[in-house]
Amino acid sequence: MQTPVPDYLQQILDECGAPNTGATADYIPELADADPEILGICLATTDGVRYDAGDADVPVSIQSISKPFVYALAIAELGLDAVLKRVGVEPSGEAFNELSLEAKSGRPRNPMINAGALTTHALIGGGTASVEERFELVRRGLSDFAGRDLSVDEQVYASELDTAYRNRAIANMLRNYDLIDIEPEDVVRGYTRQCAISVTTRDLAAMAATLANGGVQPMTGQRVVEPAVVRQVLSVMMSCGMYDAAGDWMTTIGFPAKSGVSGGILGVLPGQIGIATLSPRLDSHGTSVRGVRLCGRMSKDMGMHIM
Ligand code: DON
Repeated sequence: MQTPVPDYLQQILDECGAPNTGATADYIPELADADPEILGICLATTDGVRYDAGDADVPVSIQSISKPFVYALAIAELGLDAVLKRVGVEPSGEAFNELSLEAKSGRPRNPMINAGALTTHALIGGGTASVEERFELVRRGLSDFAGRDLSVDEQVYASELDTAYRNRAIANMLRNYDLIDIEPEDVVRGYTRQCAISVTTRDLAAMAATLANGGVQPMTGQRVVEPAVVRQVLSVMMSCGMYDAAGDWMTTIGFPAKSGVSGGILGVLPGQIGIATLSPRLDSHGTSVRGVRLCGRMSKDMGMHIM
């Protein structure tokens, strides 16, 4: 049976696909070589129906889109107060890979930038888990959000780890300020592996729909996190998810979202749908050029700005 939604999605892919400007992430060799023509979109409803068009089944590494979910897992495991002691909730107004530590407390400004995400990763497993155990908690948690078992793209992992000097520098600073209690190299390895978890646009939409659905995965019915955790995560996504373009994104497109350097964008309309787009060429903020265009188009067509 033909439904109107896929037709609409195909239509906006056709209309927003050109020009395909921007550049693939060049600081991770494996991502620099990504096929720039990939273009996918998927919407997932809170009752578990997914509509997609284009390359929605092509797997890519999740990259920074993992950050809100690991933040959710950290809050669920340790409680909000414990997480807030280590990571703030203020927009940094700086690029994702800046240190952006608060002047007085030394905390990373928020969990969406690399400094905050390295810290949140280190919190999983309560500081006693091994690198492998901590990663497994993260992988299982993200799989629960997606509603299927996710695995790692080992090539992307090896490629990023090879060149992760900047994240190593950040992790060493975090250790210096006692914001992480474990060896910086172990945190970088675990966080880099987290970023290399392989997902499709359909997976991202399902993960977004779990947030839209107050923490219950719509397809499996599993409660992954409590509504209060979702509220915290979406609030931080809204103010910090797009880094130094967060204000521009929120005023023009207007729903909480998170980007990743492999070209994904994940968006959430609370109580309604999860949104995901994929196109590898990025703008200067590390966000997919055609993904921004597609989200802007949907926001306009369907009144998705939450204000
Ligand atoms: O740590 C990094 O630099 C990458 N693994 C993730 C960065 C990222 O996806 C930024 N988002 N647009």
